Amino acid sequence: MTEIPEHLLKRSREARANTTGEPTKKAADNAPEAASAAAQSEAKVPSTPEPLEPTPTAPVAPYNAAATNRKKVPWWAASALILLPIWAITYVGTLERPPETGPAGLLADGDHVYEARCAACHGAAGEGGSGPAMNNGVVLVTFPTPAEQIVWVASGSAGVGLGNSYGDEAVGRVAVGGMPGFGAALTAEELIGVVLYERANLSHSEFDKGLAEAMDEAIHSGELDLKDHLDPETVTVEEVLDLLRSASFGEDDQLATG
Ligand code: HEC
Repeated sequence: MTEIPEHLLKRSREARANTTGEPTKKAADNAPEAASAAAQSEAKVPSTPEPLEPTPTAPVAPYNAAATNRKKVPWWAASALILLPIWAITYVGTLERPPETGPAGLLADGDHVYEARCAACHGAAGEGGSGPAMNNGVVLVTFPTPAEQIVWVASGSAGVGLGNSYGDEAVGRVAVGGMPGFGAALTAEELIGVVLYERANLSHSEFDKGLAEAMDEAIHSGELDLKDHLDPETVTVEEVLDLLRSASFGEDDQLATG
């Protein structure tokens, strides 16, 4: 009996396996050692051949294809579009002309000066601290007229002279020190503003409120210029009264008497 070489047997088994899709039982019986090789080759070649063509699907209408294939609006562009009207409204709002703002006014300026320069010693609401209280009308009693108080704030304790009395003699205030003079640090406008603020706002004097409004008008119309400083060395009640009177205040006579 002619012996068929093992490699030829194997090839024929493989060929049969490829056509039938099954390894031959006999061959597997006859050559168990070759069976594993056949099984291997079977694993490589799938038993059911893949269909060459994909399963035909229903044809897509061109308008549907166009709808699915066209580029979508990107998310960022969509959100930008949604925000556009909000931006437009805000933008138009910024175009409106701001209301005409004249000078803030003596009392408003005085409020700022008080907060920055006086509140540390006299209290944020004039309740007092290292310096005397400015609320409850105390300051109106010490100084029956604004002019005297303006001179005091311009000169301070040292300007008046320690041991000297200041304000209404009947009240009997004596300078003991600690109050700085503000004539050099503040313009006449700021200094008069803060004094009228103390009297009108912190001590509720209607008279000083009216005076501040009259002076605002005079400053606004150019009648009164308070850009200079009150010299702390030389300032007098008469000099200050002249400034206050130039506001053509209806109650001028009260300026000197209180
Ligand atoms: C460093 C603390 C200090 C600061 C700042 C200060 N003061 Fe005074 N003030 C005093 C002291 C202390 C006295 C009392 C002075 C004395 O007896 O010599 C006083 C007294 C006064 C008085 C007299 C009150 C009274 O009833 O006798 C007035 C008005 C006054 N200050 C206004 C002001 C104004 C306006 C400012 C800000 C522009 C100011 N002070 C800032 C400490 C201060």
